[in-house]
Amino acid sequence: MASNDDNDTTMSSPETEFISILGTAGGPETPATRISSRSLPETLPILGLADIVIFPTMVAPLLVDTPASIKLIDDVVAGGDRLVGAVLQRKPDVDNPMPEDLFEAGCAVRVQKMLKFPDNTVRVLVEGLWRVRIKEYETRTPYLRAKFELCRDTRDDSLELAALTRNAQSAFQEIIKLSPALAEQVKVAPLDPEHPGHLADLIAFNLNLSLEERQRLLETQSVKERLSILLPLLNREHQVLTLSSKIQADVATSISKTQRDYFLKEQLRVIQRELGETDAATAEIKSLREKIEATPMPAEARKAALQELERLQQIPSAAAEYGVSRHYLDWIINVPWTKETEDKLDLDEAERILNEQHYGLTKVKDRLLEFLAVIKLKKELKGPILCLVGPPGVGKTSLGRSVADALGRKFARISLGGMRDEAEIRGHRRTYVGALPGRIIQTLRRVESRNPVFMLDELDKVGSDFRGDPAAALLEVLDPAQNNTFTDHYLDLPFDLSRVLFITTANWLEPIHPALRDRLEVIELPSYTESEKLQIAKRYLVPRQLEEHGLNRQAVKFPDATLRRVIQEYTREAGVRQLEREIAALTRKAARRIVSHAGQVKPLTLAPEALRKFLGHARFLSETAEKIPEYGIATGLAWTPVGGEVLFIEATRMPGKGNLLLTGSLGEVMKESAQTAVSYLRSQSKALGIDLNDYSKHDIHIHVPAGATPKDGPSAGIAVVAALASLLTRRCVRSDTAMTGEISLRGRVLRVGGVKEKVLAAVRFGVKRVILPEQNRFDWLEVPTEVRRNVKVHFVRHIAQVIRLAVPSR
Ligand SMILES: Nc1ncnc2c1ncn2[C@@H]1O[C@H](COP(=O)(O)OP(=O)(O)OP(=O)(O)O)[C@@H](O)[C@H]1O
Ligand SMILES: [Mg+2]
Repeated sequence: MASNDDNDTTMSSPETEFISILGTAGGPETPATRISSRSLPETLPILGLADIVIFPTMVAPLLVDTPASIKLIDDVVAGGDRLVGAVLQRKPDVDNPMPEDLFEAGCAVRVQKMLKFPDNTVRVLVEGLWRVRIKEYETRTPYLRAKFELCRDTRDDSLELAALTRNAQSAFQEIIKLSPALAEQVKVAPLDPEHPGHLADLIAFNLNLSLEERQRLLETQSVKERLSILLPLLNREHQVLTLSSKIQADVATSISKTQRDYFLKEQLRVIQRELGETDAATAEIKSLREKIEATPMPAEARKAALQELERLQQIPSAAAEYGVSRHYLDWIINVPWTKETEDKLDLDEAERILNEQHYGLTKVKDRLLEFLAVIKLKKELKGPILCLVGPPGVGKTSLGRSVADALGRKFARISLGGMRDEAEIRGHRRTYVGALPGRIIQTLRRVESRNPVFMLDELDKVGSDFRGDPAAALLEVLDPAQNNTFTDHYLDLPFDLSRVLFITTANWLEPIHPALRDRLEVIELPSYTESEKLQIAKRYLVPRQLEEHGLNRQAVKFPDATLRRVIQEYTREAGVRQLEREIAALTRKAARRIVSHAGQVKPLTLAPEALRKFLGHARFLSETAEKIPEYGIATGLAWTPVGGEVLFIEATRMPGKGNLLLTGSLGEVMKESAQTAVSYLRSQSKALGIDLNDYSKHDIHIHVPAGATPKDGPSAGIAVVAALASLLTRRCVRSDTAMTGEISLRGRVLRVGGVKEKVLAAVRFGVKRVILPEQNRFDWLEVPTEVRRNVKVHFVRHIAQVIRLAVPSR
């Protein structure tokens, strides 16, 4: 068997030789015709073809690779006329085809060349001579040999044939135009209309046809018939080629569009340069350069900016990198390197502004004014960082704003609450996609000044996780010794933060990083008393809310009694935020009333009785007012980040084994304090007149309600003692009394913190008496007079005194 060897690349050098011969055999005056058909042998060796049909006068390379076929070629080449019958196989995959595997019609060919290859294959170049039909097989081994007859072309020289020929010729020429590969193959073969049979064979051999179609054409002796079969096939091929060349053209245009644009732009740029004009990109670079030169900035920054500009010039403006680089330059140009506002520094004016915007807070304002005085004297402040500490809603943030007003500086504020990523402070490196500077630099750019009052709110709520610790970055920001060269990761240039006046705020100092706390100058803002709240409401909150709701000051009247009731019954807080919300709610409702009384605005006075209608039921009633008729309950006082708090301590006793049970989310210190109280009472039972005979048969359970809130600290010690004493003596603790104090095992009452906040909370609660450690006498003086006047205080040194005061004998 043999197969087409057209695409075999291993045969490179002989192949080029083949190709040079290709088609030259075409035409009637070929050596093939020189062999006289009369000198034909009687039989021909038959070579089965797997995938090619050879036509007369056509030259084709064949690959021969089965032993039988190789032997056939060997014998033929050794013989004289080198003729072979090449017949298409019915099945291409049969290696040694038998007569039944072969078509009857084939082509007598002559082997022109033979090449043997080391892989035991043989390549031959054959030239088609005549159509033949096999009559009878003579031998089958070692290869087939058969008797045959010649099949000559039949042609009638009719007009029809001439027309068919001309049609086929021109159709084929069209196809050659569309298919460059085909043109190469047939360019040397004349498309001779004088020999229509040869023309038909040439087309059949070269056109893209199936094997069946080719075999059919080989079998057809009538030239006219052959051409009639070919014409529709030519037509089909023509259509396919037209379509595919259109597709290719489309693809090519779409690719070249972007390239074309690019080239055009580049050309435009060159032309513009020649004409002395500037294109958009060059103009942009020019304007950037001017800006960099005009903006005052440190030499180092300018150098970096110019370098970046150089880089920018090299980048095509359509590239993504151009944007990144442009963005960076934008930041360098717009950061306020030297831009600053001038300080007013008129202390009287500053005092006036602080007083105008905030009621009370005398000590805090004094402290702030002192601070401003130092700035005035030293001009430059490398002083400590202020930290305003206090419960929510006492005016920390708004005081910061007032300081900025007083100094005539811009005010900037960022909230650190929940910040966990160092990059939020310091920015991302420029290598990150979408990188930006940190919040500090961003904020400075926004306020367009390098010396604003910069408030870092909620310093106590900074978190930290795997992305780094923002507190570490804050350390650098807030340290006067190093913040003059603060380096943001994005800018990657030192920025002088030393002229910024940083003010931080926190609810409490406990969670703040110790190193950070060390740099802070703490100013505490206390909770407000009821009358302070009343004044704040009257002077600030009510006017502000009226204004915000579009009402004038006379439109709604809030009598003191009403405000006081709101403070007492609808809020219970250290600051005034909830109070402001309630006032806002009242104003809203009043506004609606006024508007619905069509047209005529009738001043409305909110009587205390109207509150229920507007705000619903009172939310907080003086709880101590409902006298506690039970044993084992005492009122303690605690200090939390949101101000003072009243705690109830409950103790109960049940049959058991003398165990002590403590519940209510108590911290270690608080538990120990409760154990100390129990131990003290047990050790002193006789002296205190407490009957503890059956102590070992009972368990004691101490619980502090609001169990979900964690509680800790030693200051509930005397309240626990009081609750236990009440339980064991079966006498009630006085419900108008609240107490705080740490206890020692020997019964001493020790100093506690936050007395002022605790007393204020107690008063908010309606408590009339407080028991405090003797050591806290000075703290008592800090409590506003107005409050001190309304509560009775008892200072104690020893637990025995507490018991006498809180659990009086009947
Ligand atoms: N002494 C005061 N005089 C006038 N208004 C006050 C005073 N104290 C607080 N306010 C007002 O109370 C509101 C809440 O204050 P601000 O937001 O400053 O509280 P804060 O202390 O920052 O609270 P937080 O800890 O929750 O941030 C503001 O509208 C503020 O103007
Ligand atoms: Mg605040």
